[in-house]
Amino acid sequence: MCIVLREVLYNTMMISDKMKVATEFCNLLFTTTSVILLFSGLGVDSMAYDYFSTTECMREPQRAQYGGGIIVNPGFDHNIESWTVFGNGTIEERISNDGNRFIVARNRTQSLDSFSQKIQLKKGLIYVFSGWFQLSEGSDTVSVVFKLNGSEMVKGGHVIAKNGCWSFLKGGVVANFSSSAQIHFESNNPNVEIWGDSVSLQPFTKKQWRSHQDNSIERVRKSRVRFHVTNVNKTSLEGAKIVIKPTKPNFPFGCGMNHNILNNTEYQKWFVSRFKYTTFTNEMKWYSTEKIQGIENYTIADAMVEFNRRNGISVRGHTIFWDDMKFNPVWVKTLSPRGLRKAAAKRINSIVLRYKGKVIAWDVMNENVHYRFFEDKLGENASAIYYSKAHELDPTVPMFMNEFNTIAYSGEKIASPANYVKKLKEIMEFPGNDRIPFAIGLQGHFSQGQPNLAYMRSSLDFLGATGLPIWLTETSMDPQPQQAEYFEEVLREAYSHPAVKGIIMFAGPAQAGFLGTLLADQNFTITPTGQVVDNLIHEWGTGPTHTLISDTTGIVDISLNHGDYDVTVTHPVTQYIQNLNLSVNKGLSHQNIHVKVHA
Ligand SMILES: *[C@@H]1O[C@H](CO)[C@@H](O)[C@H](O)[C@H]1NC(C)=O
Ligand SMILES: *[C@@H]1O[C@H](CO)[C@@H](O)[C@H](O)[C@H]1NC(C)=O
Ligand SMILES: *[C@@H]1O[C@H](CO)[C@@H](O)[C@H](O)[C@H]1NC(C)=O
Ligand SMILES: *[C@@H]1O[C@H](CO)[C@@H](O)[C@H](O)[C@H]1NC(C)=O
Ligand SMILES: *[C@@H]1O[C@H](CO)[C@@H](O)[C@H](O)[C@H]1NC(C)=O
Ligand SMILES: *[C@@H]1O[C@H](CO)[C@@H](O)[C@H](O)[C@H]1NC(C)=O
Ligand SMILES: *[C@@H]1O[C@H](CO)[C@@H](O)[C@H](O)[C@H]1NC(C)=O
Ligand SMILES: *[C@@H]1O[C@H](CO)[C@@H](O)[C@H](O)[C@H]1NC(C)=O
Ligand SMILES: *[C@@H]1O[C@H](CO)[C@@H](O)[C@H](O)[C@H]1NC(C)=O
Ligand SMILES: *[C@@H]1O[C@H](CO)[C@@H](O)[C@H](O)[C@H]1NC(C)=O
Repeated sequence: MCIVLREVLYNTMMISDKMKVATEFCNLLFTTTSVILLFSGLGVDSMAYDYFSTTECMREPQRAQYGGGIIVNPGFDHNIESWTVFGNGTIEERISNDGNRFIVARNRTQSLDSFSQKIQLKKGLIYVFSGWFQLSEGSDTVSVVFKLNGSEMVKGGHVIAKNGCWSFLKGGVVANFSSSAQIHFESNNPNVEIWGDSVSLQPFTKKQWRSHQDNSIERVRKSRVRFHVTNVNKTSLEGAKIVIKPTKPNFPFGCGMNHNILNNTEYQKWFVSRFKYTTFTNEMKWYSTEKIQGIENYTIADAMVEFNRRNGISVRGHTIFWDDMKFNPVWVKTLSPRGLRKAAAKRINSIVLRYKGKVIAWDVMNENVHYRFFEDKLGENASAIYYSKAHELDPTVPMFMNEFNTIAYSGEKIASPANYVKKLKEIMEFPGNDRIPFAIGLQGHFSQGQPNLAYMRSSLDFLGATGLPIWLTETSMDPQPQQAEYFEEVLREAYSHPAVKGIIMFAGPAQAGFLGTLLADQNFTITPTGQVVDNLIHEWGTGPTHTLISDTTGIVDISLNHGDYDVTVTHPVTQYIQNLNLSVNKGLSHQNIHVKVHA
């Protein structure tokens, strides 16, 4: 029996890889290579994402998304009909030089004074908000606020609006009870006018939301593969059995780890059988490696790095510095600026050179949107300088920012997506930093209550519009009755977003002290939340094994997760078995494998 492999590729970038696989495979079968690679055209790779976002400030706003959804008169084509004043001040329609009509709130006296519309929220629905904003002067944060049931104020997202151009605000709210609501806007300085246009609020059911996720996963994380089995004389072979066994998923879905891994064999077994990516929760932090000034001790971090090397697990470096003063070694807090500069230079050299080549990424300055310990002591460009230094020491791996609340809490103003991008741009624009491979780290700690998936997706859209890779670096869900359900929602949301390139959870077994997002109890019995994680590991990567039979045309079609597979093709009569290794990559939107079999 012999098998010929033919592939229809839609992306030239993958050719050399595929050629290698195919050639190796055929060398096994023929003394002369007879692999045919057919290129049926260069891909309009349908990776485009439905969800529009931009971090740019535009001369004119775009049209309202979803035609405005449940918002009446979303583009102010009918003057300010259906809009009312919220708080003090007046509202009016204005027309730009280009003839665009928009709304203006002026003579404001409080931050919440703005234009407003009454809406009805239904329990269980997910509402996506978007709109374009501008201020009459300067630059400041504008937030969308939902006043629920006459009293409760829930923030749905933020943007930095400016004078002279329109900024795009995206966010939303998940209704956990049905009520009337008022949508309105906030900006701290009441002396400026708020201008708005193309306002939209679109509801989705949870079922629709899940189907968006599934469609996106199909496009972003999977490819359709066609096997065509024929006899040597090229007639189709019906009834061939094709078994496709996943061996290595492409998507990094990992888990945090702590020092207990070193001497707890059950923890080791639990971890190694599940994950290929990790971050140490505390063991690489400065307060762990240099408790006393001048006395470095890497014993534990070294042993953990070695454990992961032995087990083929990739480690993210976390974290060189931390901009929150309270998480620095005690002795660091009282150093003079000169002393700090010296100690920090030693620290960055020490840890980066020690683990260069052993870590796949660095968190450089943790939480530098929320905090500014180093900026306060060393100057405005402190973060930028340490990113530059880290890259100089370890030039090949991505350098991350790493913030909390940015996608997890719609009330967060300081580390909002807009402020995150602002800080990131400052660091990127620092002289020389344009060569650094930057990446966006989002801790993703979710607290009580339903996760606001509308806000999470909008935030990922906004951050993804930078074009940089995004990782969820410390994903967790606070203990609560629906923890498992909510955690699954968050993980699926992240996995389905095309800008997300990796997910690490800060979670684990009770014996290692992970009591927040507990995946296995004291006896290593899997918790409901642990079961969600195990199911997703299976669904996204290591399972299931597919067994398929070729039809009358010799064809088998299947959609496979990106990753590596062992494939066996069995002849229906002779039972002759042929193996092949297959890599399914995102560069391929269709893959057509022509398998030729003869006894
Ligand atoms: C503005 O509204 C507040 C209550 O929201 C009220 O106390 C205040 O008197 C109003 N100011 C003016 C100038 O109308
Ligand atoms: C209202 O605001 C406009 C500018 O937006 C200003 O020219 C006008 O004086 C204000 N009126 C009052 C009563 O403050
Ligand atoms: C909504 O407001 C009404 C009247 O104030 C109150 O009785 C009701 O409990 C509120 N509902 C929720 C879900 O907060
Ligand atoms: C709805 O969610 C909000 C915000 O998380 C919370 O404050 C409120 O108690 C919840 N209400 C209900 C009825 O669950
Ligand atoms: C092709 O090969 C198969 C299997 O060897 C054989 O059964 C079939 O008759 C052949 N068909 C033609 C058209 O030669
Ligand atoms: C394992 O090591 C940790 C410190 O890394 C220590 O606290 C713990 O007691 C050790 N456990 C065992 C069973 O040796
Ligand atoms: C370094 O840390 C390890 C683990 O905590 C400890 O056993 C060892 O004594 C320390 N070494 C020094 C020189 O302090
Ligand atoms: C910070 O860097 C910018 C260049 O990105 C430079 O213009 C500015 O002067 C620097 N600020 C300080 C305080 O060094
Ligand atoms: C673990 O097992 C022991 C002995 O079987 C039992 O007493 C204990 O309740 C179990 N703990 C948990 C958290 O299930
Ligand atoms: C497939 O790859 C495995 C290693 O992952 C190797 O052992 C095996 O020989 C390969 N099979 C073929 C048919 O190339």
